[in-house]
Amino acid sequence: MTTILPQAESTARPASDSHTIEIRNVYKSFGSSHILNGLTLDFKDDAITTVLGPSGTGKSVLLKHIVGLLEPDAGEVRVFGTDIWRVSAEERFNLRKRFGVLFQDGALFGSMNLYDNVAFPLRRHTDKSEAEIRDIVMSNLVEVGLETAIHKAPNEISGGMRKRAGFARALVMRPDVVLFDEPDSGLDPVRTKLLSQLIAKVHAEHGGTYIVITHDIPTARTVSDYVAVIWKGNVVHYGDADGAFDSDNPFVRQFLAGAAEGPLGMD
Ligand SMILES: Nc1ncnc2c1ncn2[C@@H]1O[C@H](COP(=O)(O)OP(=O)(O)OP(=O)(O)O)[C@@H](O)[C@H]1O
Ligand SMILES: [Mg+2]
Repeated sequence: MTTILPQAESTARPASDSHTIEIRNVYKSFGSSHILNGLTLDFKDDAITTVLGPSGTGKSVLLKHIVGLLEPDAGEVRVFGTDIWRVSAEERFNLRKRFGVLFQDGALFGSMNLYDNVAFPLRRHTDKSEAEIRDIVMSNLVEVGLETAIHKAPNEISGGMRKRAGFARALVMRPDVVLFDEPDSGLDPVRTKLLSQLIAKVHAEHGGTYIVITHDIPTARTVSDYVAVIWKGNVVHYGDADGAFDSDNPFVRQFLAGAAEGPLGMD
């Protein structure tokens, strides 16, 4: 069956304009399931872009392409101007070090306390002394409000605290790019709000290119400078946040309103 996808609204910039993260005509299938279907998206530099879209539409698959965990069947994933699949594994690994990633559950190491979790990237990827590492780790843990919980193991703290610890660890290398896959999943509305405010605050202080995948419309409203709506492996809308929330595109309206009626079905 061929689906005619709606075209992304034309907020795209000219091709000469380069971006930290550029996704060009990316295709990805798993067996006979076509997940990304020529997806093209230049993420705005130094801004927070949220990626919204129904479950199973390819958002996490897109994120895994950006961090180099999945290789496209066709198309280009360019980060910092480099097509990450046209370079050596070592070069790809070095590019990936410039990313902070917050996976869904915080992805902390269960055997390490919070301090060691946050220190891990610095110990692994830098030659810094333990004294220097302590300064950085503590300032990051203060930033997310966890300075009194440094000796706790991940299973001794709440889901919201694990997310904040994951965020502290994602930031510890002062990355130019931070990616969040559903930072709000599993959190109550108050903690979701606090975490999204924290993301916006840290971004305002440090800058960088942030990509936030979320289903949560209030989170999107709190953090977004730009909004990309993905459906069936393609971009159906990309533009500034105000435009997205005022859009008359029926896909965007239905998704942002969470309405059962509209072009998006359960298939
Ligand atoms: N490694 C894989 N092997 C096979 N199929 C996969 C793999 N990764 C993802 N898929 C499939 O790709 C589709 C898109 O998955 P993805 O995780 O990107 O969805 P999503 O948009 O992130 O959804 P959600 O909002 O529920 O997290 C799903 O049907 C999923 O089963
Ligand atoms: Mg997902």
